[in-house]
Amino acid sequence: MGKRILLLGAPGAGKGTQSKRLAETYGVEHVTTGDALRANKDMETEYGTPRSFMEKGELVPDAVVNEIVEAALEDADGYVLDGYPRNLSQAEYLTEITDLDAVIYLKVAESELVERLTGRRVCDDCGTNFHVKFNQPEEEGVCDDCGGELVQRDDDTEETVRERLSVFKENTEPVIEHYRDEGVLVEVDGEQTPDEVFEDVQAVIDDA
Ligand code: AP5
Ligand code: MG
Ligand code: ZN
Repeated sequence: MGKRILLLGAPGAGKGTQSKRLAETYGVEHVTTGDALRANKDMETEYGTPRSFMEKGELVPDAVVNEIVEAALEDADGYVLDGYPRNLSQAEYLTEITDLDAVIYLKVAESELVERLTGRRVCDDCGTNFHVKFNQPEEEGVCDDCGGELVQRDDDTEETVRERLSVFKENTEPVIEHYRDEGVLVEVDGEQTPDEVFEDVQAVIDDA
């Protein structure tokens, strides 16, 4: 059975950057509620569309994301879970549907998060992340991996980033404390270079 890895961290902590590499290295599924919701932004649910929440930086209702995660985990032989759980009720749901081999928290200071998010550029085709300062593509505006166009996410404006960080503090920090209390949380310094972070994360997983 493939490893079951949970990656926690604030918006901009590097969850997507690390998850993509982890999924390739360990041959597991990258399960990310953010990408799944972005791909279905205008899906009608009884609560409204995902877009109506995401544009404001608010959480999409639990019922919608729980269903996405359950379906994705059912099909996966090992996974790296990115962007879920984001509140205690989602964390309880996750406990009901799966066990975890590693729970890793990428720790990054708030001032750094704002700069990372407002400078992020994402490949429109393959989803690879770049940054205008910290992680430049070889050619401006073009993806190194697939040649796709690099775009800015709708919710990466400074105002929405501030809202996402406050939603994180209120809803997701208690999730981190919950795993810490259970004694399963391993903290990794997310302010190192992406390669250094990856090494530390790998060490945690290989140890698990
Ligand atoms: P989601 O897409 O999950 O966004 P997020 O959690 O806010 O996190 P990000 O994707 O912004 O950051 P990341 O940690 O992946 O960082 P990245 O690697 O890109 O969610 C979006 C929205 O969807 C939510 O607001 C909500 O509305 C909804 N949603 C999603 N899941 C939900 C759920 N479970 N329940 C309810 N609603 C949900 O890195 C960021 C930047 O930094 C990049 O430019 C990168 O190149 C750069 N970078 C990365 N690592 C480093 C490094 N080590 N040093 C320097 N720069 C770095
Ligand atoms: Mg992400
Ligand atoms: Zn690409």
